[in-house]
Amino acid sequence: VSAGAVSVRQSAEQLRILSVLNDLHLKYKPLTDGKVADYIPQLAKVSPDLFGICIATADGQVFEVGDYDYLFTIQSISKPFVYGLALEDHGREYVRTRVGVEPTGDAFNSIIKLDERSKRPHNPLVNAGAIAMTSIIKGTDPTDKLNRILDLFQRYTGHGILADMSVFMSERTTGHRNRAIAHLMLNFGMIDGNVDEALDLYFQQCSLMVSCRDLAVMGATLANHGVNPLTGKRAIPAEYVRDILSVMFTCGLYDYAGEWAYRIGLPAKSGVGGGMLAVVPGRFGIGVFSPPLDERGNSVRAIKVCEGITEAFGAHIF
Ligand code: DON
Repeated sequence: VSAGAVSVRQSAEQLRILSVLNDLHLKYKPLTDGKVADYIPQLAKVSPDLFGICIATADGQVFEVGDYDYLFTIQSISKPFVYGLALEDHGREYVRTRVGVEPTGDAFNSIIKLDERSKRPHNPLVNAGAIAMTSIIKGTDPTDKLNRILDLFQRYTGHGILADMSVFMSERTTGHRNRAIAHLMLNFGMIDGNVDEALDLYFQQCSLMVSCRDLAVMGATLANHGVNPLTGKRAIPAEYVRDILSVMFTCGLYDYAGEWAYRIGLPAKSGVGGGMLAVVPGRFGIGVFSPPLDERGNSVRAIKVCEGITEAFGAHIF
């Protein structure tokens, strides 16, 4: 009898999660605000109507609605995870000599701000810091480094990951600003090894294809202290999960980070492919996909959805 009672209670909770996701999808589907990113020519081709939402819980349940399995490029959402790999490769002390943890209040591709004294980029989520982190990933050659990054995302998502070659080439040939940022850092000794190889690896990590379901599972892995709840396998040492979540909380949405922390109150990361990943520590991961972006480069529908989820589940960490 008691087992039956438990399962009835569980399914009521499952139904509630699904109905919250369905309501949010219905409510924000008609929204026409925002504009699909076009500074990488290949990104401009995506349909603005695509819209998926997924929640994956720290105990491995997955709830999804809309275009939850549509594949898009991960873009900046790769940054906190590669930061985690850099921490795993080198430890906290060394990594802190290469990147800070201060929010900039600037746009993601801000070119000018390196810390006056240390010459470090301010944090690992602005492009400067992300490229610096990618440049220190261990590996015998570029292929080995790429494979280590692919393995990383395989651990977080639970399956093999591919890159979108046309997005990669499109960014590689047009990413002059990122080239300038990387060369500026090379000048200050913040890039290890070959600068073009570091940029290629950065463009490759940005062009990895994920679904919003994958983002939710990656979030659930962080919510679950670094163990993927679907596979039971560890994706990152538990001690570095807090490093990742702290910078996501303070720097994940660039010049919207303060407003986001205040209103939604969750560590999160946006990408110009239209993805958003948020984490409710100990409870669940959220993945949203909707390509139209606001003027700061964050998905318009994804912000609304995360706000709705935070309210519905009392998820704001304060
Ligand atoms: O560095 C770039 O321009 C892109 N590949 C990634 C940027 C991104 O996703 C910024 N996020 N909101």
